[in-house]
Amino acid sequence: MKEVVIGFLGCGNVGGGVWNLLEGFSKDLEHRDSLKLRVKKVLVRDVNKARSCAVPQELLTTQVDEVIGDPEISIVVEFMGGEQPATEYMLRALRSGKTVVTANKVAVALNWHRLQAAAQERNVGLYYEASVCGAIPIIETLNHALRANRVYNLMGIINGTTNYILSRMYERGENYADVLEDAKRLGLAEPNPASDVEGYDAAYKLSIMASLAFHARVPFSKVYVEGITHLTAMDIACGKEMGYVLKLLALGKREDDTIEVRVHPTFIPESHPLAQVNGSFNAVYLHGHACKEMMLQGRGAGDMPTASAVVGDIIHAALAEVHVHPTFANTPEADPTLTFDDNWESKYFIRLSAEDRPGVLEKIAGWLAKENVSIATMMQKGRVDQGRVPLIVVTHAAPEHAMQAALAAFDAEICTVESMIRVEE
Ligand SMILES: NC(=O)c1ccc[n+]([C@@H]2O[C@H](COP(=O)([O-])OP(=O)(O)OC[C@H]3O[C@@H](n4cnc5c(N)ncnc54)[C@H](OP(=O)(O)O)[C@@H]3O)[C@@H](O)[C@H]2O)c1
Repeated sequence: MKEVVIGFLGCGNVGGGVWNLLEGFSKDLEHRDSLKLRVKKVLVRDVNKARSCAVPQELLTTQVDEVIGDPEISIVVEFMGGEQPATEYMLRALRSGKTVVTANKVAVALNWHRLQAAAQERNVGLYYEASVCGAIPIIETLNHALRANRVYNLMGIINGTTNYILSRMYERGENYADVLEDAKRLGLAEPNPASDVEGYDAAYKLSIMASLAFHARVPFSKVYVEGITHLTAMDIACGKEMGYVLKLLALGKREDDTIEVRVHPTFIPESHPLAQVNGSFNAVYLHGHACKEMMLQGRGAGDMPTASAVVGDIIHAALAEVHVHPTFANTPEADPTLTFDDNWESKYFIRLSAEDRPGVLEKIAGWLAKENVSIATMMQKGRVDQGRVPLIVVTHAAPEHAMQAALAAFDAEICTVESMIRVEE
């Protein structure tokens, strides 16, 4: 029986789940893999806090050196969250010859180059399956199973909180603010949900996932980010009538040496596989040149689903003879031979409040036509209110810059833009 000694950095939701999974799974592991995993020390902020797992009090410490300075501990598992001090602790662990397993998307997305360099220097492992989409094995899939592919398109629902909010707005016609409050009550949104609802959580994950898919470092700073805070029940209802479902999508495309990466609310046809992914579920839909299209779906958060990915990494790390790292140049800046394109092509759903008089539709069509944006559908929604009428315009595919220029030219006396949502088919 091989015994591997582990140290935890953190013991909250994910750490508690990992403790519970290790406890309940140890007999299977001993039987299946002749492997015994022993947790020796657990770093927390407050040793007296009530915990969701029965970690013995004597294992808890507030001194990080008791974990990363212990020569018996060979794997350090980090689920503290945040960029710092998590990154510095992981670097210290790697530099002292310990393998690191982490669930921390922020630390990996922002400091991957430093973490990987430190791991390679000491010939130890760096594992981060749980940092993207919880239980879904997207990192393993991109790194191993799809290695024989050039992946050219990724589309993901990779944030459960926003998917829960948008699913409820779609199904029940509720307002954003009401659903958000309910999601907080149900523990599906953080008390401060900014990182989720403003799209940053998805952007960190997209930066990691797109780097692996496109075999090039995709820095977080290159990801266009737009959240869901401005969305209205009316936009969702109008889209629904036209056969669209609204999702916060993480999109990544690579064509030759050009990459685009963006996170924003997106209408997709109700027949699209991602349109059926509801509630707190996550999914990644991708195209590779050999595998063609595929979708991975599952639970992207929660103590046990996330622990599934973390413990999977710990077992892998404990049994690995050699630790494998991505082969692209893992530099903080993007490879200068690549272009990151922010002038992507998309269709657009625009909701306008327009003056109710003859000639206005021609004006709108004219402002769009001036930038070569052509209209696919235009319709009036609802009644005239104070001389203004709500209008919905859906365009054919057009470059983002042309669309922005056209909208900037709209004369507010005649017509104001209430919302603009991109549409992907
Ligand atoms: N929650 C999920 O479903 C989920 C899913 C995928 C990935 N993740 C990632 O997993 C990580 C942890 O998430 P979580 O939900 O488990 O967070 P959490 O419940 O807030 O737990 C954080 C833990 O880290 C400890 N900690 C934080 N800062 C510390 C410091 N400076 N020194 C010592 N201990 C410190 C806390 O100690 P105390 O307990 O004493 O406060 C707590 O035990 C994050 O990176 C998150 O993005 C979470």
